[in-house]
Amino acid sequence: MGTARKIIIDTDPGQDDAVAILLALASNDLDVLGLTTVAGNVPLDLTTLNALKICELAGRKDVPVFAGCDRPLRHDLVTAEHVHGKTGLDGADLSDPSFSIQDQNAVDYIVETLRGHDAGTVTLCPLGPLTNIGAALQQAPDIADRIAEIVLMGGAYFEVGNITPAAEFNIFVDPEAAEIVFKAGCKITVMPLDVTHKALTSRAWIDELRSINTPVTNAVAGLTDFFERFDVAKYGGTGAPLHDPCVIAYLIQPDLFSGRNVNVEIETESKLTRGMTVADWWGVTDRPKNAMFMGDIDRNGYFSLLTQHLRTL
Ligand code: BDR
Ligand code: CA
Repeated sequence: MGTARKIIIDTDPGQDDAVAILLALASNDLDVLGLTTVAGNVPLDLTTLNALKICELAGRKDVPVFAGCDRPLRHDLVTAEHVHGKTGLDGADLSDPSFSIQDQNAVDYIVETLRGHDAGTVTLCPLGPLTNIGAALQQAPDIADRIAEIVLMGGAYFEVGNITPAAEFNIFVDPEAAEIVFKAGCKITVMPLDVTHKALTSRAWIDELRSINTPVTNAVAGLTDFFERFDVAKYGGTGAPLHDPCVIAYLIQPDLFSGRNVNVEIETESKLTRGMTVADWWGVTDRPKNAMFMGDIDRNGYFSLLTQHLRTL
């Protein structure tokens, strides 16, 4: 693990979060220091339970799991059981975990970990609402200079919204936290819906996973089958966007993605567009560029990277 990139995955599993975590755990290029959970797709008790179940499935009970914020910084929680099912991980019947979460709160863990490592050596990978990261930056502004990079799934430009006509779910749930993150001055890479809506699963990929026939590939096939039913009905077409693994795939193989370095501001006020990521894609303002906003993905490369890694667990 000497040269492996140190990451903390902040997550609200979620089927696609689960695949992202499994991908990270399968990669020799990444050293997963810990998982921090946040309320999002389902309430915090379930996202935390799900994080433990995923580590158990991967045979990685050594990965510490920390529970974080159970609601957004200022508003009520919005969840997405209509997409992910009641448990958040509908589609696979995963065993109950045989290990528990750490006592420390996720926000304190993030702060302590960043302060305890050399500056610029720990990358944060948020896959859910940005509540924990926003809270950590609020509590300890000094960590902003210590974060190597924040690579997150959230937002949209051309694709606009999935939970409202204007907003993507992760940003919509906690726009105030997102605003703190985008204003923090850290290096930020964004995987918005513009990318993830091109990362569509296919029947052939799910069949391939089933033919590999390991507990992990069978679980991912089941989770993906469940996850697909909502998106196929919503968007038409053949598969579902496998959002969150884009974050981890980027860390392993960045050339799968392309985008632009732009200014991104978060709308926190408007009734109609709250949670919108206002990205200056066309460079029509002189606002400072604060994020690498991805726009495209090599879809085939992405799914073969996933298969290559998942089959090793
Ligand atoms: C994001 O919202 C959640 O439903 C997914 O896990 C993903 O992180 C997509 O908008
Ligand atoms: Ca997620």
